[in-house]
Amino acid sequence: MIDFTFSEEQELLRRSAREFFESELRPLSESIDREAKFPADIIRKMGQMGYMGVPVPERYGGAGLGKVGYCLLMEELGRVDASVTTILAAHCSLGSIPLLYFGSEEQKERYLVPAARGRTIHSFNLSEPEAGSDAASIRTTAVRDGSDFILNGTKLWATNGKEADVFIVFAVTDRKQGARGISAFIVERGYDGLRFGSEEDKMGIRGSSTLQIYYDGVRVPRENLLGEQGKGFSIAMTTLDVGRLSLAAGSLGASRRAIELALQHARNRVQFGRPIAEHQAIQFKLADMGMKTEALRYFLYNVASRADRMGNQPATWTENDRRSLTRHAAMLKVLASETASFCVDESLQIHGGTGFTRRTEIERMYRDARISEIYEGTNEIQRMVIGRNIARYGLE
Ligand code: CAA
Repeated sequence: MIDFTFSEEQELLRRSAREFFESELRPLSESIDREAKFPADIIRKMGQMGYMGVPVPERYGGAGLGKVGYCLLMEELGRVDASVTTILAAHCSLGSIPLLYFGSEEQKERYLVPAARGRTIHSFNLSEPEAGSDAASIRTTAVRDGSDFILNGTKLWATNGKEADVFIVFAVTDRKQGARGISAFIVERGYDGLRFGSEEDKMGIRGSSTLQIYYDGVRVPRENLLGEQGKGFSIAMTTLDVGRLSLAAGSLGASRRAIELALQHARNRVQFGRPIAEHQAIQFKLADMGMKTEALRYFLYNVASRADRMGNQPATWTENDRRSLTRHAAMLKVLASETASFCVDESLQIHGGTGFTRRTEIERMYRDARISEIYEGTNEIQRMVIGRNIARYGLE
């Protein structure tokens, strides 16, 4: 691992993102959660700011700020609103990275450019009722019919499902080949045969939509096959590697905010004749939260900068780079989500009874943080990926 410093441009992005999210988003966060309402206006403004395509190169309509820039944005967003963090991650990592990494020039022009400019919203459809952690066991089929494919099946947990214009969908093209018989497709909302279930009533990230999608004989033109036929599983896994990095950045932001809120409270709350921040019991909590969060930060940006050096063409990556990305992304997902859960829990404890009431931000953060240990691959799956990787190749 090598060290790095943020460039002028990256620092500028961080400052402008913080200013934007603090002034435009923070005042809305409480109502986004309470009303479980997709924040369409903010998403539109984020598009105008160029935030919906931060990691996408400029020639495809993005800001060209790479994974480091994207993680900076996600960290700032994670400090303010977990629903919007989820919406951005589903659009930008899961819905756009497959196009950037595996799309043809025509597909990038047609789908990636508008997504990066924030004119369209994307969703990623991998999970199914019978295929969650075991993603290779999906049952949705894609059968050739002339020059088209016909898709049949049910997808679950589709973030942005209600609002998306474009869906990156995984389906079986050759059952006998197992994971090598899965292919990826680009599906437009207007295609016939697409039906949408009702929204999940979730415990947290309530401003993001999550729903079931039914593909009933959806006809997809051959030019919307993404990457090579049979490479879909690998496309999904590579995409999830990048997605896990960005989720870690969101969790880092949430951890930092939980510490800020704990500090604000502990400096003001006086018990036994002095602010509780001066009591060792509280300082030990701050010490643990601070250690975990700082360590996470250094790890994350090192990995993100290595991912930037690897570039946007997976075919050119060395085997070692690919393995490291998979391992480190999984490690970061676990470390970051568990750090965020730890920090919001400790911060809530420092708030005492006040933190248990709906009037505090920490109460919302406590509910929001929980999903990070589950979505985009449970932490149990991440540990399996890390363990397999270390058992096979040892540490770097
Ligand atoms: N990058 C590229 N290719 C990869 C890869 C990676 N990280 N991991 C695996 N592959 C390839 C392998 O090389 C192998 O290819 P070959 O057959 O050509 O050698 C193939 O994929 C199968 O790999 P495995 O044998 O390792 O597959 P497995 O079935 O044993 O395990 C798994 C795979 C890691 C458990 C995987 O199923 C997994 O990540 N599960 C979790 C799924 C997940 O994260 N779901 C969340 C979906 S997104 C979501 O939550 C919705 C949302 O909108 C937020």
